[in-house]
Amino acid sequence: MTKRIAILISGRGSNMVALADAIQNGTIPNAEIAVVLSDQPDAKGLVVAQQRGIKTLAIPRLGRKREEHDREIVSVLRDERVDLICLAGYMRVLSPYFVDAFKDRILNIHPSLLPLFPGLDAQRQALEHGATESGCTVHYVDNTLDGGPIIAQRTVPVLPGDTVESLSARILEQEHILYPEAVASILARLEDK
Ligand code: GRF
Repeated sequence: MTKRIAILISGRGSNMVALADAIQNGTIPNAEIAVVLSDQPDAKGLVVAQQRGIKTLAIPRLGRKREEHDREIVSVLRDERVDLICLAGYMRVLSPYFVDAFKDRILNIHPSLLPLFPGLDAQRQALEHGATESGCTVHYVDNTLDGGPIIAQRTVPVLPGDTVESLSARILEQEHILYPEAVASILARLEDK
């Protein structure tokens, strides 16, 4: 059966595009994107997804409490019969309600070698700590900040003279390879169940 993926974004959406490409070219087999959902109505990635003919939805927080907002999102994801949720630059911490509603079915990509440098500005943190290598991590989302079980990682060197921008670009290139590979392996595991 074709697995239905929801991708949650808040901005640019380049990882969303990498996942969409991978579904299209068969790197992620037997899958489709059910919806690209954003908490930011003006997220650039929403336009990109629409241009590709993907269903999009913006659910802004509108001053609501985190769980109230998440309840609306969970209800949409249930209606869409989603098998897997991929956070891709989604800038909100999920409520325990959301995490429990899709237990072990939510993945995130983070631009560091977790458990190093969780949270915001991971690339800046790596530079400020004088790390000689960094990378990206795909992990399950649980109720910790970027602390769920690690699924896969890719490493890049930190080069002399690197800026946040140059390091971020080097890591992002690897994110676009890592996320599709990780999603394919997780879907294959779901298939076996
Ligand atoms: C990526 O660096 C990702 O690791 C982090 O947020 C960024 C999102 O970029 N969680 P994009 O929106 O996928 O281009």
